[in-house]
Order: sequence, then structure tokens, then C-alpha cells
Amino acid sequence: VNTAIDNLHRLAARTTGTLSLAGGLPMASLFPRRLLGLAGLEASLETSGAALQYGWPEGNEELRRWIAGELQRRGAAVAHDDVIVTTGAQQALALTVEVLPEVKRSIAVEPETYPGALDLFQRKTALANDPRYAGVSYVVPGVGNPSGLDLTPFERDSLLSTGRFIIADEAYAELRFDGRVGRPLFADAPTRVFHVGTFSKTLCPGLRIGWLVAPTRFRQALLSAKRAADLQAPTLGQDMIERLLQRLDWSEHLAHARSTYARRVERLMHAVRRHLPGFAFREPEGGYNLFVTSDDPELDELDVLEQATKLGTSFDPGRLFRRDEAPLVFAMRLSSCNVPEESMDEAIRRLARAVSMSRRERRSGPRSRPTRAATP
Ligand SMILES: Cc1ncc(COP(=O)(O)O)c(C=O)c1O
Repeated sequence: VNTAIDNLHRLAARTTGTLSLAGGLPMASLFPRRLLGLAGLEASLETSGAALQYGWPEGNEELRRWIAGELQRRGAAVAHDDVIVTTGAQQALALTVEVLPEVKRSIAVEPETYPGALDLFQRKTALANDPRYAGVSYVVPGVGNPSGLDLTPFERDSLLSTGRFIIADEAYAELRFDGRVGRPLFADAPTRVFHVGTFSKTLCPGLRIGWLVAPTRFRQALLSAKRAADLQAPTLGQDMIERLLQRLDWSEHLAHARSTYARRVERLMHAVRRHLPGFAFREPEGGYNLFVTSDDPELDELDVLEQATKLGTSFDPGRLFRRDEAPLVFAMRLSSCNVPEESMDEAIRRLARAVSMSRRERRSGPRSRPTRAATP
């Protein structure tokens, strides 16, 4: 199924005129391109060649200080030596899975979660059937993927009260629309929480710079794993970000990104209410996606995606976010990033047409593709 979705996404990407609502890509127009360009130029021209040289497995000290400072402002007692700069948040997850023995038992995930984490866990461990017996919990607090929602205080307390290890993936946390980025879980359980962050959503994913803050006793094992994986995170990317942060007003940059995404998601919600009235969603608290569901048992995500691709739009089917790609309730993650604002309404209109066509075809003929059973 994954290959079928991938093929449809690739087809949509190379078809001119497609208004794509697929992909977790941040908006390219928010990348501070000029400042990054200058930072790259300066870093490469520096006579010491430091930015082009090998670095330490834990990453550049100045960058680690900046990351620790951000976490301190949010209430966590983090020193720069607690931070490991990773090759994206994805690697922070992979390293954690490698060093945490409890992961081997099984890992509990939310019913819908980040597909990259699901892929990793399905390869390296087992997903827990009953979260009560899992060794570790993986959560996307802050701004969830695909939900765009924060953990409620109750969910947060319940999670902490289990006493389990927690991998807290905060990839989108800084993109809360109201800017109230809360206390990281790490602050409340520093001996059990692996805190994962990244510049991918707030700055740009192409530099591949993320971070991991782990309980102290895992630090040496993590550094060994990091060395074995790729020696270190890219020196040039780290150096560029350090230089950029000296020139860019970070809080202003974030405020601009938040208000841009908030406006776009608002438009997306407006269009969904208008053209897909039978569909439900919870208003996201941040990020750039909208997770839309329907309880119409006739709808099939892949069918609708096929129709949508023909009609010049695309989306991420809900099953991508579920373990074993279980097709439970019909769902679509819609990204507000790749469609011009004035075309958002048209994109959703195409999607609504795709839904109608898919319904019509299903009523008029038998299904050709077998439906997979939901995993218990
Ligand atoms: C929840 C979550 N974690 C991690 C990642 C990967 O981030 P990175 O680009 O830093 O590896 C993503 C990317 O979409 C994500 O949504």
C-alpha cells in the first residue's frame, strides 16, 4: 500500500497544475534564504576551514549552548553538555532506540502518529498491543503530528505517572500558533525522558540538524552510537545555523512562521467546512496540517487519493499514520504549505469532487482491490 501511495504522490508532484495538500514539508518561502546564503558563504570562506572540517560527535558547543538556553527558558534544567546535535530529529529517534534496552520489549505509540517513527519502530522493535506492558512510550507532545494538538494536562500527567521511559518528539512544538510553547516533558522527568528537537520545521529540513537531550546515564552510549552511525552531524550545517542565529531575530522569525501557518490552516479549515461538510476535524493548535476524518464506511483512502491525483490534488492518507497502515476511519492529512493561499479553496473543491467520484464508482461497481483487515 505504501508503494501505491508513494507512486501517486510522485505522480502528483510531477504533474503541472497540481494543488497538492500532501507532504509534511514546511513552506519554502519561510526559509531565511538570504541569511542562510550569507552564513554558508562566510562559513566556507573562513580561513581556518573549521566549518568544512570534522567535528565532535556531540556537535558544536555554541549551538548546543543555544539549544540548552531555549530549553532552560521553557523550564528544563539542561546544560549544553546534555545536548547531542543529531542529523535531524529522525536520527535522535534512531539513536534512542539503539541505546534504550527497554525499547526491545515494545513501544507504545499514539493511535495516529509520525510515519517516520512508525517505520523505525516497526523495523527495530515491536509496537505494543497493550500500552500498559510497553517498556517505552513515544509521543509527539507540543504540536502533534498529524493532529496539530498538544497533549492535554490530563494526558501529560497520565503519561508521566506510568513511570515508563518516554521519547518526546517535539519536532513541531515551537510552531504553536499562540506562541505558548510549554514546559518540555523532560523538565518533569529528566531521568526517564528522551527529548527530541529539530530545526527542520522552524528553519529548514535540508541542513539536517536536530538534537537529543537524554538522561545523563545514556550519554556515553548515545555518543558511541552517534559515532558509529555517521561520526557527527554535518559541521557546515551547524556552523551556518550558529551564524544565522547571530543575525536573525529568532523570536520574530518564529512569530512570522506561526502567524503565516495559522492563517493558512484557518483558510484550509474554512474550505473544508464549505466543500466537505460531512467531514470532521479538531482545530489544530499549531503546525501546518489539518487532519480530517469521515465515518462514511463507503470511502476508501486509496480510492479517493487516486481520484484526487487525477483531478489535480493530493493528500496524505490517514493509514500512513497508523501502525501496520490500518485503514480504520477514513482520514486525510492536509498540508497548508504547498498551495498558494488563493488556490486553497480550489484544492479542497477538487478533493470534494474526488470524494464524490470515488463514492459514485464504489456504488456502481464491485471493489477490485481487497481491503486489509484492521489490526486489533
Ligand atoms: C514528529 C516528527 N518527528 C521527526 C521528524 C523528522 O524531522 P527531521 O527532519 O529533523 O529528521 C518529523 C518530520 O516530519 C516529524 O513530523
